This record gives sequence, structure tokens and C-alpha cells, in this order.
Amino acid sequence: MLENFMKNKILVTGGAGYIGTHTCIALHEAGYDFVVYDNLFNSSREAINRVSTLIGQTIEFIEGDIRDAESLKQVFAAHHFFGVIHFAGLKAVGESVAKPLMYYNNNVSGTITLLEMMSEYDVKNFVFSSSATVYGNPESLPIDESSKRSCTNPYGQSKLAVEHILEDLAVSDDSWNLIALRYFNPVGAHPSGQIGEDPNDIPNNLMPYISQVAVDKLEKLSIFGNDYSTVDGTGVRDFIHVTDLAQGHVAAFDYLEKQTRLNESGTTQQYSVGFLPINLGTGKGTSVLELVSAFSDVSGQAIPYQFTDRRAGDIASCYASVDKAKMLLGWQAELSITDMCQDTWRWQSMYPNGYDVS
Ligand code: NAD
Ligand code: WQD
Repeated sequence: MLENFMKNKILVTGGAGYIGTHTCIALHEAGYDFVVYDNLFNSSREAINRVSTLIGQTIEFIEGDIRDAESLKQVFAAHHFFGVIHFAGLKAVGESVAKPLMYYNNNVSGTITLLEMMSEYDVKNFVFSSSATVYGNPESLPIDESSKRSCTNPYGQSKLAVEHILEDLAVSDDSWNLIALRYFNPVGAHPSGQIGEDPNDIPNNLMPYISQVAVDKLEKLSIFGNDYSTVDGTGVRDFIHVTDLAQGHVAAFDYLEKQTRLNESGTTQQYSVGFLPINLGTGKGTSVLELVSAFSDVSGQAIPYQFTDRRAGDIASCYASVDKAKMLLGWQAELSITDMCQDTWRWQSMYPNGYDVS
């Protein structure tokens, strides 16, 4: 963060969740102030308590829903925010197919309510949790930000719908600065082992599934397909450590802060960020079997697996072009697959039941 600048305050919606908690720590370390707003639908007070302990100060936490305009109003009236990081949302692809209205209501209507409140209080800096899912089945690799977007499930559609809303908003009024960070596959946990991903049920995603097999909570991993045209026939993804991802959010706010300062200095032409999509990934692909093998090496545990049919909707390979993040934000991922496995293993073995310590 730039020196001699007043400590800016950020509203973090969904800040009690997996990526939100890690980002709160990164914001604190970078000198930002923040308020967490979360309805705890997919998280817990325990997560907030752990973050408070890790940063050595009590977090300002408000239990509330982004669809509740009155509750949001009180929050905006009580604070002077520089901007908003918007993590709050539902994220399970399969559930979104079964409950599309719930997903559109939460992810799209909720975001509109939030943006309306920001507009009312003239808070125009916004960082949105988008996803590589907006690229659907990519035409070429690595995927850059100008690639065609298409989604096949309601979760992905809800992310794409919000991106379209942000694009229209930027066209309508150039005082908005709207960054959509398109995350690839976030994994890993805080190196302290105190916070990490805590799926409610049987995990849908690969890394938490592997780690639950490693602690014997689950018997064996099903690998969905070994006949893709990839290095070993299994799916290839761009896994990114959650603490690297968290730093990407700090870099996005540092960027917005810098633009604001340039504009306020009066020495440059007014600059509007508009709608700015940026990939957050490592740029490297890792196969399912490679991840299983790396996790087994790090943990010293066997990870039994069986090959099953491909999962509906899955693609063969997906990894990011990371040039834009590096060029604009000066950010790049630093941590390796080994780091991702080590930190996941530490969290999973210290807290096999996640935040449920009863
Ligand atoms: P998460 O479920 O751990 O965190 C989301 C948080 O939002 C939770 O704490 C939940 O309680 C809260 N929330 C949900 N609906 C809310 C509402 N209506 N009002 C207030 N709070 C609400 O998920 P995460 O993995 O931390 O993901 C954060 C964001 O990043 C989500 O928007 C997700 O779609 C997006 N994303 C996640 C991934 C991933 O693989 N984890 C990948 C790409 C994008
Ligand atoms: C990775 C690879 C699976 C589980 C999802 C969402 C995406 C984004 C990130 C939010 C694939 C294989 C998985 C298992 C397996 N989330 N796999 N056995 O599908 O790339 O992306 O999370 O935005 O929108 O779709 O991640 O971890 O589910 O799968 O073989 O039990 O692991 O087939 O090749 P995915 P994933």
C-alpha cells in the first residue's frame, strides 16, 4: 500500500467464508481497515474468532444478508468505506442446478441490492469474486480475459450475469471502478493451520475430498474420468493457493487506491477503471493424478482412488493466462502445489472437523 495514505476501510461481504477469511488477514497485514458482513449461511463465528486471534485484534463483524437493504443501509451509514470486496454468494455447482432460483436470488439479486446501496452512499470501488467458470469450455489455453464467455449451469450463469451488470454499470457512469477477479481453482489453507476450507457436507471439490480421504473421513476418492486428452488422462486445473489469492485482492485495492490518488492529485487526466476483468491463477496446469500424488507425498498418507465416469459438465483442461494481473496489479502467485498440499494437510489434520470443535 502507498505510504502516507489514510488507512482505507473496506466492506468485506462474505468475509467469514473460505476466501474471505484469508483475505481479511491479508488486508490487515497490508494496513487496510475492514468490516465483515456475512449471514453465516456457509460459515461460522468460530472462523471470525480465529481470524481475530491471528491478527491480534477483534474484527468488526455484522451478521447480515446482502439481500437485506435496510441492514446494508445501516452499515453504509455507519462507516466511510473506500470500497467493497464482494465474496458473499453461493458456490455449489450441483446445488445450483437443483435450486436455480435460490442461486439467482442470492448471487444476482443480492449483488444488485449491494450495488444500489453503494451507489446511494457514493462508494464506487468494487472487487467482485468471479470465476474461471465464466469461460465454460475454453477454445484455447491458456485462457486470457478476452476469451469467449459461456456457462452451462446456474451458478456459472449467476457469475456471468453479475459481470454483465457490472459492464453495463461501467458504461452508464464512469465513476464506477469495477474489478472482476476470475479465480481459477482456490485450494490450501493459512500456514498457521487455524483457518481453511470447511465444506458442510461431502466435498464436491477435489482438494477437500483428497484431504478428507487422507484423514480417513472418507474411504476413497473417485476420479472422474481418465480418458481426457491430457498428460495422464485425468482433468487438468490451475490450482492456486488461497493466500496468494488473498494477496491478489490486496493488489486490486492497492491499484484502485493508486488510481484515486492520481485522480485527486489533479496532475493527470481523470482515469476511470470501468469494468476490469482479471484472472487470478498460477498459469500452470496440474492433473488430478498429479495432485493426488503430491498430497500423498506431503502427508505420508495413501490416497486410495478409483476411476469412474466423467462428471457431467466437466472440461478436460483449464489454466489461466496471468499476464494481465502481473502487468496491471503487479501481482503473481508465488506458492507451489507442494505448499498448497502442505497447508491443506496441516489444517485438515489439526482440525479434521473444520470449525466444528464441539
Ligand atoms: P464460502 O461459501 O466459503 O464463502 C462465502 C460466504 O458468503 C460465506 O461465509 C457465506 O455465509 C456468505 N454468504 C452467502 N450468501 C450470503 C448472503 N446472501 N448475504 C451475506 N453473506 C452471504 O465461499 P468461498 O469459497 O470463500 O467463495 C467466495 C466467493 O468466491 C463466492 O462468491 C464464490 O462463488 C467465489 N468463487 C469461489 C471459488 C472456489 O472454488 N472457492 C472459485 C471461484 C469463485
Ligand atoms: C477439479 C478436477 C474433476 C472431485 C469448480 C467449479 C468452479 C470453481 C472451482 C467456483 C476435475 C476432478 C473432482 C472429485 C475428481 N468454483 N474431481 N473427483 O470443477 O474445476 O471447478 O470449483 O467458482 O466453478 O466448477 O473443481 O475441484 O470440483 O474439480 O476427479 O471427487 O478434479 O473432475 O477434473 P472444478 P473441482
